[in-house]
Formats: sequence, structure tokens, C-alpha cells
Amino acid sequence: MAMVRVEHLVKTYGAARALDDVTLEFPDGGFFGLLGPSGSGKTTLLRAIAGFVLPETGRVFIDDEPVENVPVEKRGIGMVFQNYALFPNMTVAENVAFGLAVRKVTEAEKKRRVAEALELVQLAAFGARKPHQLSGGQRQRVAMARAIVTQPRVLLLDEPLSALDKALRVDMQIELKRIQREIGITTIFVTHDQEEALTLSDRIGILKDGRLIRHGPPREVYDDPQDSFTATFLGDARIFSGTVEAGGLRLADGTLVPGVRTPTVAVRPENLHLSVAEPDLPCRLQARLGQKIFGGALGTCLLDWRGEVIKVLGRDADFRDLPESGPVWVGWRPEHSIQMSG
Ligand SMILES: Nc1ncnc2c1ncn2[C@@H]1O[C@H](COP(=O)(O)OP(=O)(O)OP(=O)(O)O)[C@@H](O)[C@H]1O
Ligand SMILES: [Mg+2]
Repeated sequence: MAMVRVEHLVKTYGAARALDDVTLEFPDGGFFGLLGPSGSGKTTLLRAIAGFVLPETGRVFIDDEPVENVPVEKRGIGMVFQNYALFPNMTVAENVAFGLAVRKVTEAEKKRRVAEALELVQLAAFGARKPHQLSGGQRQRVAMARAIVTQPRVLLLDEPLSALDKALRVDMQIELKRIQREIGITTIFVTHDQEEALTLSDRIGILKDGRLIRHGPPREVYDDPQDSFTATFLGDARIFSGTVEAGGLRLADGTLVPGVRTPTVAVRPENLHLSVAEPDLPCRLQARLGQKIFGGALGTCLLDWRGEVIKVLGRDADFRDLPESGPVWVGWRPEHSIQMSG
């Protein structure tokens, strides 16, 4: 186990800043989820920590030791790449043993460690198979075994579950968390799937254009996103802008959102309530119901508010009695107004 810290990392490719002054700490034994749009620098950050990418400026520390002069294989890092490449002509066991290839371990020790790693990913009986004889999730687990067989201090996972379908992905999320807990390894995990990041991580960080926009415990960042990029990237949010007055925020249609002291406010779709009659909620506005979308247990309503869409998420049962279209009220409780600083 180890604590990882990066300080003022800058990496440019031509005119593009893949990392733009990133400073961040990854706690010892924690599960850190890195999120951000495509091209925001997630892979570059992992590669800089691993040592595949040399930053122009800034430093990487593992357990408070600077590692700029430590080569990749000596950093104590296990990595599962974005397109986890298994060798097709090698068996599962040989693929896992490959992680130990450059290390000085005896054959007996190698065998023992490979067996242990396969056990951990629940593939003990699969050692003799070839990758093409495995399912996607099993291949994924071989890649994991290969990364942990070296007993690394830090595990870097670059979208390890992106190739899997939804059901398998959820299974693998549980599996991943179990393995991480079992060996207590400091893990940095990149994903495009914000739900996945929220579920798995003790802390998350959000990158945009090579910059770290926000970081913290998932619930904290979700409940108080502070800027509109984070609010809409992590979860869904409707942003309202207006003019700040003594009593609150005055929107373009004259609606006063009480208590808000910033020019923009965000509201999560799950915190909006729909009704035909004017609701007894201090924050409310009138809109038109455009579309009701059935989604199983949960449903979505799309409203038209001055030509803009407001999305409302709720239990399907809550929407059943609403008309298909026409004027409706949408309301929310004042504590669900998220004031935006940017
Ligand atoms: N070897 C390279 N040469 C040139 N540009 C690169 C190289 N690697 C990354 N970049 C650029 O740096 C930026 C960040 O890339 P990076 O791969 O870190 O993004 P990412 O957040 O991992 O994206 P994705 O979610 O698509 O995997 C992008 O603009 C990318 O085009
Ligand atoms: Mg990437």
C-alpha cells in the first residue's frame, strides 16, 4: 500500500495541454475514481504516475518519495490499460506470469504467485485456457490478475470495465471492489461511467481540459458541485440563471427562487416534483409537459419551459396520473437549490 501525490503536473502535446497544473493526493489504501470527458487527461495522468509519460514540470510522489528517477518497473505499480491487451497465443496462466517476467523470481515462486492471483480473481480453474476461450468479464479478470501478481503498491485501472455489457459490468464492479478491499491496495480508477465512479470510489476527481476541476468524497461533490460543469457532468442538473435580488434569484419568466444568492442555481431532476395544481413549495415555476417516458420503475418527464427542456425524474407511479401534455407546475424544496459559484 502506498500514498500517491502529484504536484503541479504539466504535460503538453503540441498546443494541447493534456495535464494543466494538476495537484492531487490519492490516499493510502483508497479507491479513487477519475472522471472527465474524452481527452480531458485521465489516461495521461495515470501514465505519468506509472512513469510511461514524463511531465514537463511537476512531480510524482509515492509514499512521499519523488519517483522521477525511478523507472516504470521499479515504481511498484500494477496497471490495467484502457484496451487491456492479453497475449492471444499464451494461456491464462502464462499471461498472468508475464507480469513477473522482468522480475527475479524462482519458477516455484512464480507458480505460487500466479495461482494466488488467479484465485483472487476467481479463475483458479482457468489457468490452462487461452484468452479466446474466455468471456469478456473473465478476460478482464485475467488482466487484473496480471496487474496484481507483482504485488504492486498502487493499482492503476484505465476504464477496465468499458468493454463489458451492463449486467457483467455491475458484477465486475462488485468483484473489483472486493479484490481492492481484500488486498487493501491504493487504487486509481478511470471511468466514463459516473454512476460507476460514484458507486466504487471513496474519493473522486473530475478533470476537464487537463485541469482538475473538483475532487472529494462522491457524495460531497454530488451534493455540492459548486460549478455548472461538475453539476451537469456528475449526475444530471438543470441550471437556471437570473438576477440576484434581495429575496432570491429572479428568473426570466418572473419566478423568484427564494434564498438563492448566486446568479445561477442548479436543481437535480430527482428533486423536482410535478403537479397539475400549484404546489405548496417555496420554489416553483410553471412549464408545459412535453413527454412522459416510461423507464420501468423510474420514469422521466420532459417539460418545456420557455423553449428550454426541464427533465424531471421520478417513480413511474408518481407520473401515472398526470395528463400526457399541457400546463404543469414544477416545484422543489429550497434545500435542493444548489448555488453555483461558476
Ligand atoms: N501520445 C500523444 N500524442 C499526442 N497527443 C496526445 C498523446 N496522448 C494524449 N494526447 C492528447 O492529450 C489529451 C489527453 O489525452 P488522454 O488520453 O489523457 O485523455 P483521456 O481523458 O484519457 O480521454 P479518453 O476518455 O478518450 O480515454 C488529448 O487531447 C489527446 O489527444
Ligand atoms: Mg483515456
